[in-house]
Amino acid sequence: MAHLWSGRFAGDPDAHLFAFGSSFRFDRRLFEDDVRGSRAWAAALARAGVLSPADAAAIDRGLSEILETGIVDPAFISDAHGDEDVHAFVERELVARIGDAGRRLHTGRSRNEQVAVDLRLYLKRRVPEVQRALAGVVRSLLDLADRAGDALMPSYTHLRRAQPVLVAHFLLSHAAALRRDVDRLRAVLAEVDELPLGSGAIAGTSYAIDVDALARSLDFGRVARNSMDVSGDRDFVASFLHAAALGMVHLSRVAEDFILFTAEEFAFFELADSAATGSSLMPQKKNPDPLELVRGKSGRVVGHLAGWLVTMKGLPAGYNKDLQEDKESLFDTEDTWLGCLHAVTSVIAGLRPNPGVTTRAASGLLLATDVADYLVARGLPFRDAHEVVGALVRRLLTEGRGFNELTLQEWREHSTLFEEDVRAAITPRASIEKKQTPQSTAPDAVAAALADTRAWLQGYGL
Ligand code: ARG
Repeated sequence: MAHLWSGRFAGDPDAHLFAFGSSFRFDRRLFEDDVRGSRAWAAALARAGVLSPADAAAIDRGLSEILETGIVDPAFISDAHGDEDVHAFVERELVARIGDAGRRLHTGRSRNEQVAVDLRLYLKRRVPEVQRALAGVVRSLLDLADRAGDALMPSYTHLRRAQPVLVAHFLLSHAAALRRDVDRLRAVLAEVDELPLGSGAIAGTSYAIDVDALARSLDFGRVARNSMDVSGDRDFVASFLHAAALGMVHLSRVAEDFILFTAEEFAFFELADSAATGSSLMPQKKNPDPLELVRGKSGRVVGHLAGWLVTMKGLPAGYNKDLQEDKESLFDTEDTWLGCLHAVTSVIAGLRPNPGVTTRAASGLLLATDVADYLVARGLPFRDAHEVVGALVRRLLTEGRGFNELTLQEWREHSTLFEEDVRAAITPRASIEKKQTPQSTAPDAVAAALADTRAWLQGYGL
């Protein structure tokens, strides 16, 4: 069969090597982007006087038919003709429909820039989908915060009890990271928003293409700076993979927290039966498989980023076939990320908070910082207060008691600055109410953060 480049060769390529180099198996996913880019290119050629109005109209009609057919029947975009890639597929279909005019479409254009424009168009339509899915997880966290009400829980550093926080505050901490992921994707979209066409294979094109008009017709905000750069630039793929890798790291940490906090040892939340699996051997088990899978899949997305950076690093300037490796990494990353976002949303939607357990766990020696603050408020330098309270904690640990069991006299054995009011001052609720900053767990601050998150979600119709 004839390929897009057959003329130079006396015979056919080795069948296995041709199959090895073909990308249609996975780049068929760029079908609608390829058609869209080609329609705009044909119009640009016509505006430059390179294509006759009749040929341009025939091409546009042919391409719109092809698009229509592919949308109605995805099986149409099939391997039946042995096409090398999606670009070859579309061009062959076009020529089959409209004949010679179709053979003029590729004038002044290269697949090197075509694949770049396709990928950019693809990301422009798919990234907002990922952003919506991220917002979906934030929505589920907010709903869970509503179910938790004003329940308290311990916060942890080094996975040791640190200070009391509102459960809602903990949930919003994950929402904050997910909102950064949405922002990072916005930056990816800004990077993607650049027209590569007009670059030819590497040196530019000899036809008077109005690239600004072409950029506008494809909704690109600007035109690439340098045709050689375009030929070999897949930085925007790396940027997406980086956003995804970090996004998956965040999801993995969400998963880890809920794996821990739904375990018997914590029992801060209860997993819905529908979000758990049993054991084939141990009848009592209720395993958090979906969360474990999310945590596990983060590894392969991080791997895609690392793999892609390594693929790019040794390339000489200009297009190299190595760059074809971008697509499988990109598509698998997108699929994995979206799949995990939807899974996490479902799991969180089914979580039941256990406010009795979390609130009980939020009292005890984790109020030590509040005791130190109490002394500071009465004039003691913080370092001295830290020491006094350290000694008090040591004593309580030896005696197996808590702050709430101390008599005033016992308090005063450690510092005469302690007064009767110390009992009321040292409670988990008082601890959170004393916080003063907008990012803190103070109930007013958390209420404001919830309202801010709710307003942000409205931007996503959630
Ligand atoms: N399938 C190719 C890719 O993904 C398209 C570009 C081919 N360009 C070339 N000079 N062979 O990179």
